[in-house]
Amino acid sequence: MTHDLVNQPEITANGFTRQWWKEAVVYQIYPRSFMDSNGDGMGDLNGIAGKLDYIKDLGVEIIWLSPHFDSPNADNGYDIRDYEKVMAEFGTMADFDALLAGVKARGMRLIIDLVVNHTSDEHRWFTESRRSKDNPYRDYYTWRRPAADGGPPNDWTSFFSQRAWTLDDATGEYYLHLFARKQPDLNWENPKVRDEVWQLMRFWLDKGVDGFRMDVIPLISKDQSFPNMPGSYLDKPSYYYANGPRMHKYIQEMHTKVLSHYDVMTVGEAVGTTLEQTALLVDERRNELNMVFQFDIVQLDRDSQGHWHSWKLPELKSIFSQHAAALDRHCWSTVFITNHDTPRSVSRYGDDDPAWRVRSAKVLQTMLLTQRGTPFIYQGDELGMTNFAFERVSQFDDIAVRNAWEGQLRAGRNDEASFVANLNKTSRDHSRTPMQWTEGTAGGFTTGSPWLAGNPNAGQINAAAALADPDSVYYYVRALIALRRAHPALIYGDYADLAPDDLRLFVYTRTLGDETLLIALNFSRDVVDFAVPGGKGEVLMASAATPVQVGQILSLPGWSAHIIRL
Ligand code: GLC
Ligand code: CA
Repeated sequence: MTHDLVNQPEITANGFTRQWWKEAVVYQIYPRSFMDSNGDGMGDLNGIAGKLDYIKDLGVEIIWLSPHFDSPNADNGYDIRDYEKVMAEFGTMADFDALLAGVKARGMRLIIDLVVNHTSDEHRWFTESRRSKDNPYRDYYTWRRPAADGGPPNDWTSFFSQRAWTLDDATGEYYLHLFARKQPDLNWENPKVRDEVWQLMRFWLDKGVDGFRMDVIPLISKDQSFPNMPGSYLDKPSYYYANGPRMHKYIQEMHTKVLSHYDVMTVGEAVGTTLEQTALLVDERRNELNMVFQFDIVQLDRDSQGHWHSWKLPELKSIFSQHAAALDRHCWSTVFITNHDTPRSVSRYGDDDPAWRVRSAKVLQTMLLTQRGTPFIYQGDELGMTNFAFERVSQFDDIAVRNAWEGQLRAGRNDEASFVANLNKTSRDHSRTPMQWTEGTAGGFTTGSPWLAGNPNAGQINAAAALADPDSVYYYVRALIALRRAHPALIYGDYADLAPDDLRLFVYTRTLGDETLLIALNFSRDVVDFAVPGGKGEVLMASAATPVQVGQILSLPGWSAHIIRL
């Protein structure tokens, strides 16, 4: 990777080791929804290959591809049937190789999704495993006898609102699945399972992929006595299932056996993980993961049942401050505000009213790209894409939604309007609607009929319009990425929140050596005044055209971002 920074010393002024994956910006692609090249309504690898220049021009250096493996798609590829095959809907292995070559030819890197807490129930290991109690693959999964009353072995629940155990008729035993019934959990206690995982990782690394995003990796180790869940965890089961007794041992083994032999990056999805536990996963002296996705920000507006509630800016700010305090120079973090499991950031933390959408998207992208940690941009956020206005349960694809609705009906509740109203704030399908490329039919995503309905606002919000408009979110993000690259303080700098209690402004500094940058974000429609510390500074970047005074008082226009060198 060619980079201004690489010739500088290995350790920054404040003690961080310099790494390419700390300095890069990542772009997440959900292949199903990115670009369809053959008119079948489903995104595919050739579709992505045709858009690499679009991504490269944004200034992104790493692409994360959500699962592209052979899968019956119970959970859109997060249920893998064959780890060494490409999902037929997405193309062939030759298409993957061509995509990887195209990424490398542009000086970018590619990381893929490692989904090894569970497989599909159609994976050969499982079809063998369920056959008989003495099948050689039996112990690849967790099987237990029914409880005395014939029910499941314990009271664990699955993330997709079912029991975590399903009875299998062939042998009269239950198998464990923390997600859907079609996603049986692998048994990491079995050394053969671990060896299989190391082998499939090497298969992709030897092809040249640059690392992994690791799906729900904290769940891989379970308490083998399988007790009932303690009452104190009933409203936060993920914290009970995560960080099990041998998790660190398994991740360290993965590091020794596989990761240490390659120059790659790893980012774990830290479901159910507290900040204290995060430090243990990412402290570079422990040889586990480079970084994790912490859930605090994307859970800011949820209660333990997944119901939406309102939030205030100081709560968001305190999450960043807590992270900065808990993670020292030996640790590294990530920043993300949208992924394939969340609603759209502009509808959630910004203001998606047409009058404010672009401006608030710029504020959010400024936050994303100037906070501590490697930033992950989710496809379409660089256009300020918004949530979809769902009206009926039948419009959703997500298995989590379908299972939850069935559960509601079983419980005799059938208030579809309030169920959908909550999903309009929380659903994962908001980020899965097709990417909006043009104002044409299906937003230019497909010439056929898209697998999930596109947002009707593609006429106004699309990549072609953004590329034609110098004031677009896309060009603003591009300028921000360039600014981040030019100012190591934005990457490695220490963090201080200057106004933690302010309800409308988020103002913080990043300091490295003798450079201090002030980032002033107005999270409201109001003009808000702010006194610049020291009374002077040079504006490096402003999202709003309105002139600002850089005397003592800065007048920050509604939903605006300013980056000022003090
Ligand atoms: C992760 C993925 C999510 C998936 C789940 C089960 O949370 O991000 O999309 O449903 O794991 O694999
Ligand atoms: Ca296709």
